[in-house]
Amino acid sequence: MSLLYDARQIAKRDPAARSVVGVIFLYSGFHAIVYHRVSHFFYRHKLLSVARWVSQVGRHKTGVEIHPGAKIGKGLFIDHGMGIVIGETAVIGDNCTIYHGVTLGGRGHSRGQRRHPVIGDNVLVGAGAKLLGPITVGNDVSIGANAVVLHDIPDYATVVGVPGKVVRIDGKPMTSHAVELDHSLSDDPLETEMQQLVNTVNSLQGTIMDLKQQINDLHKERTSDNEEPDDGRC
Ligand SMILES: CC(C)(COP(=O)(O)OP(=O)(O)OC[C@H]1O[C@@H](n2cnc3c(N)ncnc32)[C@H](O)[C@@H]1OP(=O)(O)O)[C@@H](O)C(=O)NCCC(=O)NCCS
Repeated sequence: MSLLYDARQIAKRDPAARSVVGVIFLYSGFHAIVYHRVSHFFYRHKLLSVARWVSQVGRHKTGVEIHPGAKIGKGLFIDHGMGIVIGETAVIGDNCTIYHGVTLGGRGHSRGQRRHPVIGDNVLVGAGAKLLGPITVGNDVSIGANAVVLHDIPDYATVVGVPGKVVRIDGKPMTSHAVELDHSLSDDPLETEMQQLVNTVNSLQGTIMDLKQQINDLHKERTSDNEEPDDGRC
């Protein structure tokens, strides 16, 4: 049974959990999933108002707001709950972990299309992280606390920062700083500014080299003009 699997997964993954029974009775993250399974059932059967009502009761009791339309795989561990928002077209794979303050939200208001993230299996989303827009996050991804993720993320990546950047793939650090500084790949205003500064410094260095060359040429010309003509007299 899926709910029992969810509770077992939480008991397995939370070092603070003492037993599956404790999870079932005392974990608001587990309660949020129960409310969602019920509201999603009504949503699938087109009883949208009932679905919304169950979801709002769940939100009131747990501090976790999951839209009834969101698709959530088995074994989701919502640690601490509180302040989590999961949007209507969001999809969460199996055995994921989500900490408090996470948003799986939209960036626009277009109706009838996917507006929220799709997340693979075994993904960890750190406290306060925001995943925005119809992005796709691969399997086995770790998203750092307070990261703001706006682009697709490949499998096995570790993402941190604002905006979120991949800093590790499969535990190995990303080394190419040059690639990270290519501002065509970046939405980060600071990086864009930095790249512009680097370009300006490079072009100034070019200008300085040209000026040096011109001064040297001028100097050579002057010295050859000033040299006394050798007429052979002592
Ligand atoms: C992102 C995370 C999963 C990475 O863990 P990890 O695989 O052990 O990787 P590391 O800790 O070695 O971090 C990799 C790099 O990212 C940086 N980093 C890690 N977490 C970060 C974060 N949240 N924000 C910014 N940078 C972060 C590290 O400083 C390190 O940088 P470096 O390579 O320059 O040294 C982890 O740091 C994290 O944020 N987990 C969420 C935990 C959480 O929300 N807990 C709430 C409990 S209530």
